[in-house]
Amino acid sequence: MKPVVLVTRKLPDAVEDRLRKDYSPILNPDDVLYSADDIVARAEGADAIMPCHTEKFGAAVIARLPKRVRVIANFSVGYDHVDTAAARARGLIVTNTPEVLSDATAELTIMLMLGAARRASEGERLVRTREWKDWSPSFMVGTQMTGKRLGILGFGRVGRVVAKRARGFDMEIHYNDINRAPPELEEGAIFHETPADLMPHCDFLALHCVASPQTIKLLNAKLIALLPDGAIVVNASRGVVVDDDALVAALKSGKLTAAGLDVYNNEPDIHAEYRQLPNVFLMPHIGSATKETRVAMGMRALDNLDAVFSGKEPRDRVA
Ligand code: DGY
Repeated sequence: MKPVVLVTRKLPDAVEDRLRKDYSPILNPDDVLYSADDIVARAEGADAIMPCHTEKFGAAVIARLPKRVRVIANFSVGYDHVDTAAARARGLIVTNTPEVLSDATAELTIMLMLGAARRASEGERLVRTREWKDWSPSFMVGTQMTGKRLGILGFGRVGRVVAKRARGFDMEIHYNDINRAPPELEEGAIFHETPADLMPHCDFLALHCVASPQTIKLLNAKLIALLPDGAIVVNASRGVVVDDDALVAALKSGKLTAAGLDVYNNEPDIHAEYRQLPNVFLMPHIGSATKETRVAMGMRALDNLDAVFSGKEPRDRVA
């Protein structure tokens, strides 16, 4: 008998084809966003669940999952939506999909940097609303990215790809992470011991840290004050890393020139003031949203499932 897998969202065709071949999947063809109750009910008879970050597996939900469920194989690199301690306590295996989305997320980060620096939201709106009247030397003047200093907070897989791409813009790379990276991964990037040490070196600051109790509201008013005046902040990691009130205040006061955001606290009901600010370039959590990457994420999640059901240790086990 093929293991039964509850798949919580509509996945790319190639991924669902492989699921049908090797498993008995319970699919969600209409891509309905399930509540916790829906998930618990649909997991009846399932051996595994393949969710996205949109489904929350807090301790209470994990406690209600049918005993038969052995594994949560996430279709995401982030797994802050799963209480891993509760999963571990219950003997539930949890996996994620690292590496395969680093390029797509780094591309999006560069887009956020350019979009914020070159005022993409304002420009596009002017054209679409026919408010664009003429050209002048002072019209829509933005900030140049080339040759500036880029600070990367969180020098993991995505952060390091961002550094590589940014070198194409002749940017000088600075970073902070818990540990200093070995020289072959640093590739000349300059390490700073603490986030506070990093801030003064950032004409651009890109957030790439994982969501954890230590990184909640890490970018707060105190850290922002240490950035050079006129810096640009981008976030393609998780919304919780930012203190929204502090970021909004800095964007209003002119302390920061602009921000580019793809992730938010309380998505999709984001801090209302972001929508009002002209100097924020907003994207709807699409860092990994390329055809290639979404297929690769599904295949990686399936590789993890295959390992579990053939009695092997899954490559991307996080609990
Ligand atoms: C991830 O994989 O963590 C992305 O944010 C999409 O969920």
